[in-house]
Amino acid sequence: MGPVQEKSLPREKIDEVIEGFNRNTGDVLSILEQLQGLHPLKYLPRDTLMYVAERKGMAPSQIFSVATFYSFFNLRPQGRHGVMVCSGTACHTRGAKQLMDGILAEVGAAKTDADGSFTTPDRWLTVRTVACVGQCAMAPVALVDGEILGRISEMHLRRTVRDLLEKEKHDEN
Ligand code: FES
Repeated sequence: MGPVQEKSLPREKIDEVIEGFNRNTGDVLSILEQLQGLHPLKYLPRDTLMYVAERKGMAPSQIFSVATFYSFFNLRPQGRHGVMVCSGTACHTRGAKQLMDGILAEVGAAKTDADGSFTTPDRWLTVRTVACVGQCAMAPVALVDGEILGRISEMHLRRTVRDLLEKEKHDEN
């Protein structure tokens, strides 16, 4: 598989999504969510945001504040797999930082980037923190590709990611 291009989605695709929501005025979140889902790198490129703003008659600053306010919008290319470590209070007091440090060490990163996430250079995995996911009784909690893992230890999380990588290598051969 060749490298995936970092670029905006085709305008026709964006138009199609926007038109699909035409009857609803409070639809910008849904439009952005759908566009992010359509992008092969699961993010909203700047050009895409600018074009949506233009089509919806919004100022660029308005659309950027929407995209930055909600943590589920990504403004940078994401890895094919995702690990999220809950950083809510319950998880924080039960070792979320250790989980985060452990998983970063597993992928060879010293720390996250300024936006609190880290994506491996080959874009295999993105690691990030997430606000409380509502499973505090199971703290500390991490999500691997959306699956919630409760009362997880650093070792278990690292092993889960290692197994995922092994499985993928195996499937490729
Ligand atoms: S604080 Fe982590 S699930 Fe609530």
